[in-house]
Amino acid sequence: MGGYRIKAVMARRIYDSRGNPAVETDIRLEDGTLGRGMVPSGASTGKYEAIELRDGGGNLDGKNVDKALRNIRESLAPALIGMDARNQREIDGKMIGLDGTANKSRLGANAILGCSMAACRAAANYCRLPLYAYLGGALATTLPVPMVQIIGGGAHAAHAVDIQDFLVVPLGEKTFAAAYEKVVNVYIAARRLFAEQGRPLSLADEGGLWPTGFKTNEEGVSLLTEIIVRAGYQPGKDMAIALDIASSEFYDQEEGAYCLNMEKRKLSREQFIDMLCDWVDRYPIISIEDGVSEYDWEGAKMLTDRLGGRVQLVGDDLFATNVERIRRGVNEGCYNAVLIKMNQIGTISETFEAIDYARGRGYLPVVSARSGETEDATIVHLAVAANAGQLKVGSAARGERTAKWNETIRVEEELGLSGRYPGAKVFLDAGIAIFGKWEKK
Ligand code: PGA
Ligand code: ZN
Repeated sequence: MGGYRIKAVMARRIYDSRGNPAVETDIRLEDGTLGRGMVPSGASTGKYEAIELRDGGGNLDGKNVDKALRNIRESLAPALIGMDARNQREIDGKMIGLDGTANKSRLGANAILGCSMAACRAAANYCRLPLYAYLGGALATTLPVPMVQIIGGGAHAAHAVDIQDFLVVPLGEKTFAAAYEKVVNVYIAARRLFAEQGRPLSLADEGGLWPTGFKTNEEGVSLLTEIIVRAGYQPGKDMAIALDIASSEFYDQEEGAYCLNMEKRKLSREQFIDMLCDWVDRYPIISIEDGVSEYDWEGAKMLTDRLGGRVQLVGDDLFATNVERIRRGVNEGCYNAVLIKMNQIGTISETFEAIDYARGRGYLPVVSARSGETEDATIVHLAVAANAGQLKVGSAARGERTAKWNETIRVEEELGLSGRYPGAKVFLDAGIAIFGKWEKK
């Protein structure tokens, strides 16, 4: 017996979807089983995220990962070899202890996460289970509602507009595959409309259309509403809009102001929140992420007081997939949902803890990719394993995005009659009700 112990840990440099170096880890078990983890990377990275180790210097724009690879080979591998790959918590705990810092800055969250991902893959393969079933058990069968970028902006499109993501969320349908098909129809309609308007069909970092020639940020929201109609769907009934404002990117902390650079306007916190509330009144918006800055807890509370009963308010930079920060949000009444990114916290175990903690307090978890991604589809399995209910991966185009959506299609097929696709129920159960309002129109 045996064979489940870690025999070797290998680390290599690969490249992500932006062409930046990334960490890949292979874990080989005694019986020959292999598990692999590929680590993603953000562009609009939050200040409170676990630290991704980069080498600096002139080569590869300072983004090389040799230090992280060395830490895997010299520090993590010797500690992990001999451990039972099925003991995820023990493995993650060992790495957290070895690192010894609160933000994984010594060994690097990219080094640690690569090993954490590879370990659970190896263990799942050893158990001959799909990753979602290994991580979540027999009742892990919820397919996620997709949140899909149609137009990209912010740091993912050279700040052509200030807002980062203009996304859609399908509200109906009984299966992920049917819901995603509708989203693809919206994406096709977006490309058609852009072409008709003479806009280039360039893609932003996550595969959404590049917002060429926009005069205001709001133009993205109104255009997206029009695109939904063009695709043949009723806005707010079949298809809703989600926004990732990523407002930490344009917040002036000293002045406490939001600087809409492309509009050459500077708004106070109150004015900025007024603007978002006005959009919610006029457009079929179901979800707003990082509506205020990662420093602006007071603004988060104000926004929640005004919109929390109607709209999903997601904390990405504010919470950084960190239980301590989510706890503060819960205590202070900030937002009602948490974006979940594995590399913001750095291990699989802590990612699950963040999901469990959030859900236990009535906050909706939204599992998310990064803007710099690889072919790795672990987050799909994470979303299903945790019955998270929502998945945000970027757009319908670009291979690192389709790697996730296509994997979700496969998982749904594999789950068969066991699979459950919640659709709009995810929002209705949480008391988020834009529906009544928009259905009347
Ligand atoms: P990032 O973008 O990976 O560049 O941080 C994703 C997001 O903000 O949700
Ligand atoms: Zn975000």
